[in-house]
Parts: sequence; C-alpha cells; structure tokens
Amino acid sequence: MSSAITDTFTADHHRCDQLLAAAERQLAAGDCPGTGEATAGLAGALEHHFTLEEETLFPELAQVFRVAENPIEVMVGEHAQMRALLADLHEAVAARDQAAALGTLETLHFLIQQHNYKEEGILYPMADGALPARGAAIATRLTED
Ligand SMILES: [Fe+2]
Ligand SMILES: [Fe+2]
Repeated sequence: MSSAITDTFTADHHRCDQLLAAAERQLAAGDCPGTGEATAGLAGALEHHFTLEEETLFPELAQVFRVAENPIEVMVGEHAQMRALLADLHEAVAARDQAAALGTLETLHFLIQQHNYKEEGILYPMADGALPARGAAIATRLTED
C-alpha cells in the first residue's frame, strides 16, 4: 500500500512543529523583529498545509470514501480554531504583548498536537488506502508554491 500521503503530510507537520518551536524561542527571548518573522513563517506554512488538505486531499477522500466525511468535518473545524489562534497571535505580537502571545502559542501548540495525532493515525492512512493512484500527486503539491 502506498504511504505517500501519510509520509509527506507527516513530514510537513514536523516542519511546522519546528517553525512553532522557533517562534516560541524568539518570543521567550523577547526578540520582537525575530518573533514577527517567525510567527509569519509559521502562519504561512500552516495555511499552505490546511489549504491543500481542505481544497484537495479531504474532498478527494470524501468523494471515494463517504465514511471519512465526519472526521473531515472535525479536522476542518479544528483548522478554523487554529486560524483564529493565529490571528490572535498576530495581534498580540503586533501589540508587543509577550504574555498574551506566549499563552496563545501554547494553546496553538496543544491543539496542533491533538490534531496531527488524529490525522497521522486515522485520516492519512485512510487516504492512502482510498486514493492509491492519487497520493503521490497530491503529496508533491505540499512542497510546491
Ligand atoms: Fe489538518
Ligand atoms: Fe495536517
């Protein structure tokens, strides 16, 4: 069985984790310009990942595998929560409110961990099984743009 989707999307989760850790380090160090850059990099990487899931991976999976519709709905709802936290983070960083930014980043970190655990354990293996011929093509789009 192909594991292109699980492998590539999981690797991208790890890349986003590293960007999140970098943002946490900059924030904790009180480095304002560095924090702005790091949080923008994190937001961009997460948005690219969420968009590919929502516009390509999830719809294609739902089309061939109806059972996936409910877990997909949960994942998309969590993306919305994470986007709201990224907006809060952006505001806190712009206002140089270090405590608020650190608190928001901590909540985001926790939510991402729970979310990725479910995708890596359930959704991605399901997608690899249901989309054996499409996995590699979808996966290469993660590294594009
Ligand atoms: Fe996701
Ligand atoms: Fe994901």
